[in-house]
Formats: sequence, C-alpha cells, structure tokens
Amino acid sequence: MTGLREFVGVEEGAHREEFPMSGQSVRIPDHVGFIMDGNGRWASARGLSRSAGHRAGAEAAQRTLEACLEAGIPFTTFFALSTENWRRPAEEIGGILSLLRERLDAARRSIPEGVRIRFVGDHSRLDGGLRRRMREVEERTRSGTRMLASVAVGYGGRRDIVAAARTLARRVASGEIHPEDIDETLFASALETRGAPDPDLVIRTGGEYRMSNFLLWQAAYAEFISLQCYWPDFGAAALDEALRVFATRQRRFGGTDPV
Ligand code: FPP
Repeated sequence: MTGLREFVGVEEGAHREEFPMSGQSVRIPDHVGFIMDGNGRWASARGLSRSAGHRAGAEAAQRTLEACLEAGIPFTTFFALSTENWRRPAEEIGGILSLLRERLDAARRSIPEGVRIRFVGDHSRLDGGLRRRMREVEERTRSGTRMLASVAVGYGGRRDIVAAARTLARRVASGEIHPEDIDETLFASALETRGAPDPDLVIRTGGEYRMSNFLLWQAAYAEFISLQCYWPDFGAAALDEALRVFATRQRRFGGTDPV
C-alpha cells in the first residue's frame, strides 16, 4: 500500500483521519468508487430531458468530489461512461461528452487544490480536442497529494483485464518475464487503474444491484452499497449515510476474523 501511495504521490496517512459526522467518528475508506446511475430517471420524474439529468449529474459529481475531500478520502473513481454506454443514441453520448468538455474547461476553477485527476478507459473514440483537454488537466493537477480522483470514460472492467493480459503476454513473449512470474500483484500492476489501492467501497445510486462492468478485478472485496436516490440527488448527506453504513460492515476478506 505504501508503495502505491508513493507512486501516485498521495500523502500517507490521509485516510487515517476519522470523519466527524454528527459528533461521531467512523473509520473512512481509502478508496470509494461511484456508479453514477439514475440521471435519466431523475430528469424524467421532473419532465426534463435526459441531457438535463446528465448536467445535474455532473454537478453532483463535483459536489461529491468536494465532500470526499472534506471526508479525507484519498482515492476516488467516478464511472462517467462505460464501454457499453457507446450503444446509447449518438445525441445522448454527444451531450455527455460536451458536459465533460465544459467541466474540463472549468477545471482550473472547479478542481479543488490538492486533487490530482486522471482519466482511465479507452479514449480512441473521443475527438482530439477532448483528449488534449484531458491530458492538460492531468498534467496541471499532477502534483496533487490530497486525493487521486480517477474519472472512467469509455472504461470497461473486462476490457481492462483483457488489456492487462495482453501486456503481460507480450512481456512473456519477449522473454522479459516468465509465465510463473505472473501473480496477482504483477497482474494488478498491468491494469489501467494501477497506482490506486483496490476500492474498499463501491456506491451505486439509482437502486440497482450490479457492477455494470466497473472495477471488476479491483472490487473483488469491495463493500457494495446501493442507494435508492438518483445520482443528481447525491452529495455530502448521502455520502455521510453511505460512510456510516460502510463503518458497520465487518470485512473478513474470506477469513473468519474481521480485518
Ligand atoms: C447513468 O445514468 C449515467 C451515465 C451513463 C452518465 C454519467 C455521467 C455524468 C454523471 C455526467 C458527466 C460526468 C462528468 C464527470 C462530466 P442513466 O442515464 O443510465 O440514468 P437512468 O438509468 O435513470 O436512465
């Protein structure tokens, strides 16, 4: 764990602070993943367009980033667009990508001090201007040590695993490593998400109970919390609630004693 923190430059021990909620202190997770579901339903319940739902969702992502920082969570991952989301109508995808472009343009003002942003996923279908903005924001925030916030765009857990297998296969084929060298640590280091510890907690809004091809390898032992609220309604209060639930979970990682 220490090595990974050094790799990304996130301060050791940031997660050890306790989060004071309504006078109580609870242990907070190192890494929280967010499946931001329910933008469309939130919008249709209000007679609004889906794109208005995504816009409200982007605002919720901003609030949540700030709330996580306040809580002292050093790693976050936001599932903004999955590989499967490309199946949506071009207009809807275009709307989400425009929102992303807007957020990137506002990043200088909106990304809190100390937050390092990185993008994971397949960006080959994104236009050059968007890719350039993504790289610029990554570069500009590279020295952030309070939180590493990963934004998954065109991300798929299966795709990540297949790409890691290919990377390692190439290294075996070139004679750099032997098949026997491949263990869980080496495999994880070939994933796109390397540098962040495995998520302790995955929060999904919108009331469904599935991973939807999010961090499949990485979330093997993550606690999963499904909230009924739609993503645009998520923020500090819902995070607070989820952290309370997380604090009550006994994590045994396949053993018999809570860890
Ligand atoms: C799922 O809601 C949400 C998405 C597929 C897109 C998530 C995008 C955002 C929150 C906005 C962009 C984010 C950033 C960081 C710029 P849904 O449309 O599947 O909702 P539904 O299940 O109610 O239809």
